[in-house]
Amino acid sequence: MRILVYGGSFDPPHRAHMLMLDAAIRTLRPDRVRVVPAYRSPLKPGANASGERRLRLTELAVRDCLPAARRRIVKVDPFEVRRGRTTYTWETLRHLNRKHPGAELVFLIGSDALADFGSWKRPGELARLCRFAVGRRAAAPAPALPKGPGLPRFTFIPGRFPDLSSTDARRRCLTGEDLSHALPRRVLKHVRRHSLYGLDLYDRLARELGPERFEHTVSVARQAAVLAIRHGLDAERAALAGLLHDCGRCIPIGKMADYARRRRLRVPYREETARQKPLLLHAHIGSDLARRRFGVSDPEVLSAIRNHALGSARMSALDRLIYTADACSADRDFPQARLIRRAALADLAEGYREAVRRKIEHILETGRWLHPSGALAWNAALSPS
Ligand SMILES: [Fe+2]
Ligand SMILES: [Fe+2]
Repeated sequence: MRILVYGGSFDPPHRAHMLMLDAAIRTLRPDRVRVVPAYRSPLKPGANASGERRLRLTELAVRDCLPAARRRIVKVDPFEVRRGRTTYTWETLRHLNRKHPGAELVFLIGSDALADFGSWKRPGELARLCRFAVGRRAAAPAPALPKGPGLPRFTFIPGRFPDLSSTDARRRCLTGEDLSHALPRRVLKHVRRHSLYGLDLYDRLARELGPERFEHTVSVARQAAVLAIRHGLDAERAALAGLLHDCGRCIPIGKMADYARRRRLRVPYREETARQKPLLLHAHIGSDLARRRFGVSDPEVLSAIRNHALGSARMSALDRLIYTADACSADRDFPQARLIRRAALADLAEGYREAVRRKIEHILETGRWLHPSGALAWNAALSPS
């Protein structure tokens, strides 16, 4: 008996996962198929789906994408999820080997997973337990298959599979972009119905911010993702920070000073800011709300929200990115925004410097109060990050 085993996070399962699985079944003609979603430690509540939810999503993906004849032999296996801890591939294979003595096990992976095969645990044990079938991605050149004494046997399955990724699908949920090309229909419906992958945040912000502010928010999330992808930063994190950057605007301006005092927010020159321009408090308020009301625990995201309005002398790469995306999102159609956008796409440090400069220039030209953090941000922006 031959058993095809397909592991992965499936967070969420996408069309390329299923195309690859279908091709592998047609080529390898297994008697049984086990799709085994991995346990994931719940580090990012809200941004990722629980194990039970991913089991359900994977079942829906199989139902949607595989023809009935091949679907019959497929079972979504809760083994790793139910163990509730990190499970290495050799452990899952050993479990299947014990359950089905004498069966031939073939483990299916995408070619992108080959890159870090060197770090997989117990390659010798893997070689004893299974062989590997590898699906190639469309846009990437075919990688070299690992070869050597003690390593498992690897072969490619025919065909090339679209360059979809679960990370990108999650990012698209946060930026409200179309997902129909990436996710199977039933998966998408389930994600929407249960507001997974940050869609709950998206819906709440749509209700709590006015339509104009919400449109700006979505524009900033998209701009942040574009800049992150361009400059090799974490696009999912950037989209989340962008989506929440103005959530402090849920609090009416007249109540911002009170909020900042009550929560003892550490806004530089807090009282002076409250007197001069209380609206500037919205970034620190937003960071506080993102943590308390929207369940964000990622300190980098919270910092980027906090620093997006005033800037500071110490801005992380994500802080700078969100500050810049806020100044040049697509809804900002004045000429300076276009200049910042162009500069930021070419060079993030340059775009950020331009964003700080234009903001300060505008404040000075209109004769308004300049927050001292603005001057500190400018001086720091002059030196390389
Ligand atoms: Fe803002
Ligand atoms: Fe904004």
